[in-house]
Amino acid sequence: MRVVAIRVKNFKALRDVSMKDIPGFAVMVGANGTGKSTFIGVFDFLKDCLKNDVRVALRKRGGFAQVVSRGHEDEAIEIELQVRMGIEAIRRQRLVTYHLRIVEENRRIAVAEESLRFKRGAGGAPYHFIRFRNGKGEALPETFDAFDPGVPLTRLNREEQDLDAPYILALKGLGQFRRFDVASQLRELIENWVVSDFHIEDARVEPDAGIAEHLDERGSNIALYAQYLREEHADIFQTHCSPNDPLRARSCRSSDCRHGRRACRPSLS
Ligand SMILES: Nc1ncnc2c1ncn2[C@@H]1O[C@H](COP(=O)(O)OP(=O)(O)O)[C@@H](O)[C@H]1O
Ligand SMILES: [Mg+2]
Repeated sequence: MRVVAIRVKNFKALRDVSMKDIPGFAVMVGANGTGKSTFIGVFDFLKDCLKNDVRVALRKRGGFAQVVSRGHEDEAIEIELQVRMGIEAIRRQRLVTYHLRIVEENRRIAVAEESLRFKRGAGGAPYHFIRFRNGKGEALPETFDAFDPGVPLTRLNREEQDLDAPYILALKGLGQFRRFDVASQLRELIENWVVSDFHIEDARVEPDAGIAEHLDERGSNIALYAQYLREEHADIFQTHCSPNDPLRARSCRSSDCRHGRRACRPSLS
């Protein structure tokens, strides 16, 4: 399972930003204040939305007014993720799109739209398996019929659900049930991803001895993490950490970098 694309609207400095064909290892280079940390922060925000709820995640960042792009306070914050994942019921891969629209109206936070869509069959348009608005919505359990486009939609039983509050994600609730396998895989992915905003000055400190299975918040344990990768995941180490790797060389044009150096920003590990 991997995130292949993301689109973000009205999240702080990111007015409307999309990244497609995200590789397993990506490098972002840009002047200070251009939104690199903000972009990485979107992943952390989603994790907080799921672990707690959207209202708490916004409060932690100063409230809706601080998070929505300045001058666009009356618009929605939108996040759309595309994830390729295996679906248990059909033992096939599907491209799953998760869409989230968050608004503040009369000082109340609400998820105006939350949806999960993917194709029922090999072809055709993606179908909304889960769609919620302001805490109310419907979800189609992932039965075998649900993935057979020959079975008319009227024959499928969509479950109506009410969430406890409009600022709670349906993914958090539905993701607990096996019949909503996609929601539960996505929930697990978001809840468990590790977000690290790499700062070179922090990485220069001499590391303590130990094991690091993930980069920490600012990447200060990168030496230990690289050692862990080399010992436990030699294939990943070879692909991403080899200085001669052509992928890395392509990802960063030295002209973009003030010192002509390659800057690495491992965002997810
Ligand atoms: N709500 C907001 N609306 C618009 N811009 C914002 C908002 N909050 C912060 N910013 C701006 O976003 C920028 C921060 O970008 P940041 O992600 O830290 O950049 P980088 O990591 O590339 O140095 C700053 O210029 C800051 O003024
Ligand atoms: Mg930064």
